Order: sequence, then C-alpha cells, then structure tokens
Amino acid sequence: MTEDQDPARFQNLSYEGFRKLASDPDPELSEYNRIGFPDSYREGFEPAIFADILRKLPALAVRGRKILDIGPGCSGLTTSLIEYCSDLDHTLVLCDSEEMLARIPAAPCVRKVTGPFPECAARVAGILPSFDSILCYSVAHYIHPTTGLEKMADAILSLLTSPAECLIGDIPNISMRKRFFSSPAGRSYHRAYTGRDEDPVDILNENESGHINDEIILALLHRFRRAGADAFAVPQPADLPLFNRREDILVRVP
Ligand SMILES: C[S@@+](CC[C@H](N)C(=O)[O-])C[C@H]1O[C@@H](n2cnc3c(N)ncnc32)[C@H](O)[C@@H]1O
Repeated sequence: MTEDQDPARFQNLSYEGFRKLASDPDPELSEYNRIGFPDSYREGFEPAIFADILRKLPALAVRGRKILDIGPGCSGLTTSLIEYCSDLDHTLVLCDSEEMLARIPAAPCVRKVTGPFPECAARVAGILPSFDSILCYSVAHYIHPTTGLEKMADAILSLLTSPAECLIGDIPNISMRKRFFSSPAGRSYHRAYTGRDEDPVDILNENESGHINDEIILALLHRFRRAGADAFAVPQPADLPLFNRREDILVRVP
C-alpha cells in the first residue's frame, strides 16, 4: 500500500483539509484521493453508487428539475451527475470549496456556489430559492463536528420545495459499525482485512465523541419529521463498498 492509498492519510479531514487536497500539486493523487478516499474505497464502485442515488431520488429522472448537490467533490460520480442533469435539462447547483469546484468542468446546466454549507445556504437561495432534489453524499460527517447536523438539516429544509426529496447519503454511523464488527460476519471480515487472527476490540471500544451514532441519526429523522417532512434511515445495497457500516437518510417533503 503506498502512502497515497493509506486510509490514515484521509482521516480527520475537514472542509479546509479538502481544500488542500483539491489544490495539492502531487500528481500521484487520484480523483478518489482528492475527495478523501483511498482508491480501494471508490475505484470501480461509482456506477453502483450512482445507480443507488438515482433509485433513491426519483425526481432526478423528471425533465427540467432544480437540483442541489452539497459537497460534490470532483470524482467520476460528479461527472456522471452533470451528464445526467445535462441530458434531462436540469439546473444543477454545486456547493463546495472554490478549490474543489475548480476541478469540475464547466457545463451549461451547472451553477457553482463556493463556501461551506450550511453557511452558504443564503447564497444558494440567491441562485435558486428552492429545489426539487438535494443530494448530500458522503459529506454529513464533515459538517457534524463543526457546524452540527441540526443546522444542516434546517438549511436543507429551507431549500426544499413541495413536493421534494433529499438524500443525505453515505453516513458513517459508529453504532452500525460496532454492531457489524460485533457480529460473526464482522469478525471474519476484520480477520480477512487485517490478516491477523484477532477480534476487532479497538473498533468496539472506540469513543463515540465526534462521530455520528444511532442517537444522532434518530434525532435527525425526528427533526425532519417535526418540520413536516417524511424522513427515513435507509440501507445501502451490498454492492456498495462501505454498506456494512454506512447508511443513508432519505427525506421526502409531501
Ligand atoms: C468525501 S467527499 C464526497 C464527494 C462527493 N459527494 C462524492 O460522494 O463523491 C466530501 C466533499 O464534501 C466537501 N465538503 C466538506 N465539508 C463541506 C461543507 N461544509 N459544505 C460543502 N461541502 C463540503 C469536500 O470539499 C468534499 O468535496
């Protein structure tokens, strides 16, 4: 494993850390590394991830919709979304750092908003006041330690029209991770991954502070529901790379 592919290099990232990754002159960094993943977590998996997003956000298939992607990054997943939106005459607003957005090619259907979400929500609303579909994929765990997910949820709600939908996807849930690694399947997975004949004790004892856990997921569902939107915790299909420890929140405004 090269240093670029070492998962430790991509731990504890923040909005600022992603800015640096996006503008890092290292030519060895892959498109996956620039969005914080070792290649093994994404390479070859993005078509399945995109298919899952399309299944969970049916409004994306309806021509001429208004779409917001919070934290799109700059990998093939974003390119697929841009091509898809272009074919269906959608307007696609992308919100990420200037450095990350600079790596995404311009397209007539795309509008870019720089800045961290939810702080930049008013600027997003300045481009389009409401959206049919909002995607926030593999980003919530970077917003959680700084701004908090309640503010993110409220800003998302303020940007959804009626009816509308939002996928807060690929959320690492430490409770789910502990459930998996406590199971016989998780213990054998750990043995195969590490090549060592030992149980994942460190994972099971990990301090949950700063992580998203069941309590936070359930509180978020409650917050969306109390505000008038249906909200569900939904699993990822088994062909996604981290399906055994990540889940999605699907929000539907009636
Ligand atoms: C792990 S990458 C995911 C990229 C893309 N959504 C995907 O799944 O391929 C996280 C992305 O979120 C962006 N990001 C992190 N915090 C953010 C925030 N508060 N607002 C907007 N984007 C953010 C990062 O710059 C990075 O592009």
